[in-house]
Amino acid sequence: MKEKFNNQPLRGMADRFPPDMREEYYIINKIRDISKNYVYEEYETPLLEPMEIYAAKSSAELITEQSFTFTSKGGDELILRPELTPSLARMISRKSQEMKKPIRWFSVPTCYRYERPQRGRARSFKQINFDILGEISLLEEIEIFNISVDIFTSFGAISDQFQIYYNNRRLIDAIFKFILKIPNNLYWKVYKALDKSDKMEDEEYQKYLMDTFNDNKLVKNILQLNEINDIENLPYDNIPNEFYNSQGYKEIKQLQKLLKETNLEEYCTFSAGVVRGLDYYTGTVYEVYDMGEENRRAIFGGGRYDDLLTLFSNEQISGIGFGMGLLSFKLFLRTYNLIPENVKELDYSNIIYVTTFNEKLAPLSIKLSQKLRNMGFECLIDYSCGKLGNQISKANELNCKAVVIIGPKEQEGNSVTIKNLLTNTQETPKLKNLNRKILEDILEK
Ligand code: HAM
Repeated sequence: MKEKFNNQPLRGMADRFPPDMREEYYIINKIRDISKNYVYEEYETPLLEPMEIYAAKSSAELITEQSFTFTSKGGDELILRPELTPSLARMISRKSQEMKKPIRWFSVPTCYRYERPQRGRARSFKQINFDILGEISLLEEIEIFNISVDIFTSFGAISDQFQIYYNNRRLIDAIFKFILKIPNNLYWKVYKALDKSDKMEDEEYQKYLMDTFNDNKLVKNILQLNEINDIENLPYDNIPNEFYNSQGYKEIKQLQKLLKETNLEEYCTFSAGVVRGLDYYTGTVYEVYDMGEENRRAIFGGGRYDDLLTLFSNEQISGIGFGMGLLSFKLFLRTYNLIPENVKELDYSNIIYVTTFNEKLAPLSIKLSQKLRNMGFECLIDYSCGKLGNQISKANELNCKAVVIIGPKEQEGNSVTIKNLLTNTQETPKLKNLNRKILEDILEK
């Protein structure tokens, strides 16, 4: 006998069975409702993109180590989208002149990253994206934070369970420049180092910092940045005025004022250690954390990008948004029991079960189902042509709403028997009279 193929999916890819899909759509549909409340329009980008548009501004690590890239038959270097933002910028640059600003867009792509699969991380994953582009105003930050909060609270989560940790790249730059006097050419390296802090154990992280910078003072400063969460009490002496006059400091102060005035403060915490790993962020950056003692970890993040569209045109359009991994969000919801238990089960309670009496009469049952579906009812046909009693038992086991029967008696009378399974009552209306109202009356009895 031939050897059988392995029936497992590739590493990091998941087969999703119908119960998994039901759970996923339960979550996505709730979030799609939020996108409608905020008037974000849905868009879709191609799964394959030229590698260069991601290489230009995402992150070298993401492209060289964590992406599925290949050369096409035509010799083009291609990438399976590891995220969406450069593609979003590409699309907007094509039509931005004709679009009303601000542009509010929403998408739920499947993205691919060649990462080591672990809890909350896979090689193929759904990522929910919200972005607003076209105005440089911190009020847009507030909208994006508000959407992030609404997503959590719409599932019943409270501020003790999640927090938005926010920062601003311009503020970190001002700390580097005016306070820590870090040379300009090291900024990116320090960003990358800060971004790794919650991806490693403490000891491993300290060793990594020493190996990377070989500078005790700098390592101490980086470790300290991760602890700072009060902009008014920075642990430095003699902070020069230039720092307080910097755009980064002013933006953080203004954002904090707005968060207070819009009732969002409860959900948000400043953190000087949040920088985010992607290169295109220029201003506000944030990560949403699960606050559980046991699994305090980032669920998702986003930020402001001022220059991404300049990759494609001379236009400069600033945007802010976020990408939320469905996997990490699902884990969060499960941790706090925020997904109703029955969402994985198929709900038959509105379904009409159409029986088939025998092979000869079966086409009449099929014709009847066509009529019922046209009236807007969900029907399931039992093609067994077996004993009616057995077919009705099956419908009962599934908890269907009703059973319909067309046997010889019904055929003769040009009628159909409709049995309400909840009340165990039945009626036999004429087929020609059957309409939505008559059926509803029988089903509601
Ligand atoms: P990112 O931090 O690279 O940002 O990814 C955002 C989120 O996508 C992560 O926080 C996580 O929830 C999810 N994610 C990333 N990689 C994986 C993976 N391998 N498996 C499962 N989930 C994953 C971005 O992608 C930005 N483009 C977000 C953005 C939109 N910024 C502005 N607009």
